[in-house]
Amino acid sequence: MNAQRVRVKSAARDYSVYVGEKILPQGLQSHLPPKVPVAMLVDEGIAALPLTLAIFAWLEKRASRVVRVRIPAGERSKSVEEYGRVVRQLAGAGLTRDGWIVAVGGGVTGDLAGFVAATYLRGLPVIQIPTTVVAMVDSSVGGKTGIDLPEGKNLVGAFHPPQAVLADLRWLESLPPAERRAGMAEVLKYGAIADSKLFASLAKGPPRSMRKVVKRCVEIKAKLAGEDERDLKGKRALLNFGHTVAHGLEGIVGYEGLRHGEAVAIGMVVAAHLSVKARRFKKKAAEKLKAAIRAHGLPVTHPELRWDRLSPVMARDKKATTQGIRWVLLKKIGKADLVSGVTEKKIQMALEEVREGKLPKG
Ligand SMILES: NC(=O)c1ccc[n+]([C@@H]2O[C@H](COP(=O)([O-])OP(=O)(O)OC[C@H]3O[C@@H](n4cnc5c(N)ncnc54)[C@H](O)[C@@H]3O)[C@@H](O)[C@H]2O)c1
Repeated sequence: MNAQRVRVKSAARDYSVYVGEKILPQGLQSHLPPKVPVAMLVDEGIAALPLTLAIFAWLEKRASRVVRVRIPAGERSKSVEEYGRVVRQLAGAGLTRDGWIVAVGGGVTGDLAGFVAATYLRGLPVIQIPTTVVAMVDSSVGGKTGIDLPEGKNLVGAFHPPQAVLADLRWLESLPPAERRAGMAEVLKYGAIADSKLFASLAKGPPRSMRKVVKRCVEIKAKLAGEDERDLKGKRALLNFGHTVAHGLEGIVGYEGLRHGEAVAIGMVVAAHLSVKARRFKKKAAEKLKAAIRAHGLPVTHPELRWDRLSPVMARDKKATTQGIRWVLLKKIGKADLVSGVTEKKIQMALEEVREGKLPKG
């Protein structure tokens, strides 16, 4: 198998993420026991791709039976209704306790399938096969699974680490350019919070090869998630840089109007402005971040960046405590920390600056 491997520490059991080309379907061999029943949950948008069909054919030979469940493309599938439909389909098909889940798709399918795996029959093992940039560098690694509620994103979920993650870069060949760009927002995020070299290598635009980039992001995620699996020590929370505003925006525009990565790009710009206001981050560095986001064809502003619109949604952010929202702010490119007590006035000012395309004021 032509792949690089990253180990992820987890209280339940450590596991590996494989990044490379031509990993699938053979890579499943070392992780999926023979003759077990398998439910393959696959994003409908990629159900007919040759690689998907090859995985299905391989599973049909290896497993005692394969239940194929198609997940409609889009964030709407991370819903209580779709979750109910999937678990009922598994129950209806008689998937038993020795069953395994194989999740094939982007972050939506991975998060939903992971949550199904965490809860159906009180938990089945899951193998994650991420097919988007976001899923490869972020959502498939670290064991967070979940669904959205109309009240907010990812409000219901479970920690359920996978048995393995198989990130075959060939999926990216069929990924629409807009999805690829959106994924690069999460990649830039890793550079901004943890690796100035990675950031510098991406500052002028997309990389020539994704292999190194994906592996480096997975390493960073593995480190932060490994040190703080349950998101209790403020380390894993750094991965939410840009996400407080992003989740707020997604909540307002109904999850469908904006890709997650696009929302994160805008959220990172707001967080950078806020970092300047907290007198910790240089204005020049904030401009650098914005320029890099632009260089990847990602948005840096949005008309809904308004406190009155965002604050009710942001108050339900998972990082919010009874003391209010905790923000991930930058000290410099490559170094972030979690900050509470940011005043409402500063947030309002940062939102206004970004909405109106102004430079950050300290
Ligand atoms: N669990 C976590 O730690 C975590 C981390 C980051 C993001 N997320 C979640 O991930 C979700 C976003 O994931 P996403 O950006 O992958 O979006 P997505 O899963 O909606 O996929 C985006 C689109 O790409 C299509 N697609 C997927 N793979 C393809 C391929 N190889 N070729 C062609 N088309 C393909 C899909 O059909 C879909 O239309 C959000 O719900 C977010 O909350 C979770």
